[in-house]
Amino acid sequence: MPRPLTPADAAATAALIRTSFAGQAVDPPASAARETAASIAAALAEGGGFGVERDGALLGVVLWQPDQGGMYLGRLAVAATARGQGLAPRLLAAVEAEARRRGLPRVHLKVRLPLLGNRRLFRRCGFVETTLHAHEGHDQPTYCVMEKLLAP
Ligand SMILES: CC(C)(COP(=O)(O)OP(=O)(O)OC[C@H]1O[C@@H](n2cnc3c(N)ncnc32)[C@H](O)[C@@H]1OP(=O)(O)O)[C@@H](O)C(=O)NCCC(=O)NCCS
Repeated sequence: MPRPLTPADAAATAALIRTSFAGQAVDPPASAARETAASIAAALAEGGGFGVERDGALLGVVLWQPDQGGMYLGRLAVAATARGQGLAPRLLAAVEAEARRRGLPRVHLKVRLPLLGNRRLFRRCGFVETTLHAHEGHDQPTYCVMEKLLAP
């Protein structure tokens, strides 16, 4: 079961995110690959996160932050050895529960357009693609926003 991340998890969380996002064939490269213990500690202080741990090792993490009247979800990462076991959907559900606890009506996230498997995963978990966006310096869309409205 996901548990809340604490400042003591910052270094392990950053390492898992860096490793998980490294090597993704996306342009521009994923900023997640540059996360550090300090940047994760700062993100946890502004919002929070959840992690799934087995035998003392973090296998999956996600960060959240209230934003734009909803709950922003980012840095979803599952260790390569633990993929395909439904950890990501459980982490998404934990963020949805946190949003509900805070009375926020929706969860939103960004996903790179070429990552079709990720878009499929979020759709399967109830997210819909809302708007297309381009990173700075790109004249074609590079990512989309997806959101899930939470039942009251
Ligand atoms: C995206 C990610 C978080 C999914 O985590 P997960 O816990 O494996 O999610 P699921 O268990 O629901 O499986 C997701 C998909 O991977 C497939 N899969 C199964 N076994 C797998 C394996 N050994 N390795 C990779 N993917 C596998 C699943 O079948 C599923 O595919 P489908 O959507 O076509 O049915 C994980 O792949 C990851 O960390 N990727 C790198 C970071 C990233 O892209 N984060 C999201 C940014 S938007």
